[in-house]
Amino acid sequence: MIPVLIDCDTGIDDALALMYLAALHHEGEVEIVGATTTAGNVDVQQTAVNTRWVLDKCGLGNVPVVVGEPVPLQVPLTTTPETHGEFGLGYINPGAQDISRDSWQDIWRNAIAQYADLQLIVTGPATNLATFGHVQNTTLMGGSYLYPGNTTPTAEWNTWVDPHGAKQAFAQAKDPITVCSLGVTERFTINPQTLNTLIDALGTTPIAAYLPEMLRFYFEFHDSQGEGYLAQIHDLLTVMIALGKIPFNTRKVTVDVEADSELMRGTTVVDLRGHWGRKANALLVDDVDVDAAHAELLRAAILLNRFASEVT
Ligand code: BDR
Ligand code: CA
Repeated sequence: MIPVLIDCDTGIDDALALMYLAALHHEGEVEIVGATTTAGNVDVQQTAVNTRWVLDKCGLGNVPVVVGEPVPLQVPLTTTPETHGEFGLGYINPGAQDISRDSWQDIWRNAIAQYADLQLIVTGPATNLATFGHVQNTTLMGGSYLYPGNTTPTAEWNTWVDPHGAKQAFAQAKDPITVCSLGVTERFTINPQTLNTLIDALGTTPIAAYLPEMLRFYFEFHDSQGEGYLAQIHDLLTVMIALGKIPFNTRKVTVDVEADSELMRGTTVVDLRGHWGRKANALLVDDVDVDAAHAELLRAAILLNRFASEVT
């Protein structure tokens, strides 16, 4: 059983990542010890509301969800309703949710103290990670290395939202952070046909009824960007990689983030030739088995359906 702390800015693809984690939690493959949120796709209260809602719809009302840092380290917060919808869940409004007022830093401290093999998975801006300091076994969704950005020509969204957070997280890493960047995460997509297969596999799981309206928004967004009527599910792929559930390759490298220039804000740079002479701070995922990721998602959906059938 792998203990997992998920730090997310829920978002449609974060929501799918949470759903996947919930399936593995019920199966006893992971234990979600807590979920903390960052501001990014929507503000930090709403990301907590969304996280609470998704976990509840996946039968995990007992997993603590706590609000993290409200704003990036140095720049004003920008959110992206055009990508994830007004509330962050496409056309779904999760309504009000009861969110714990516990301190997110306490959740992190306690989890780290209790589980030596804790996996921290960050699927939003690195604000909490930078604020907390180094955490062993961290996997981060962010950046676009030698690859076009999705927010500016060179920057990926999570890193662009809090460039100083990402820069600081890499600067303070005592061992390499596993990095899932756009070059790999954009390869894992869902379309109306694969969504239907997923919904069938989920059966009576409560979250299944909401997926069409969540994903319809995400399909429309990607279509408007010229990607086609599909959706890239970055954060779900990141969680599968963090847990070692699918084959992937990494390169041990040194990375840094441009934080202060306006034009290059959030640009991630990898030093492949050792120009900087600095120690490695990233395991950059450079290849992944996308077919295995699709199969793994369906496996999880079947597990979640089995759990839902058992409790009803
Ligand atoms: C990242 O940005 C967010 O919109 C997604 O949730 C994902 O974490 C992809 O660039
Ligand atoms: Ca995210």
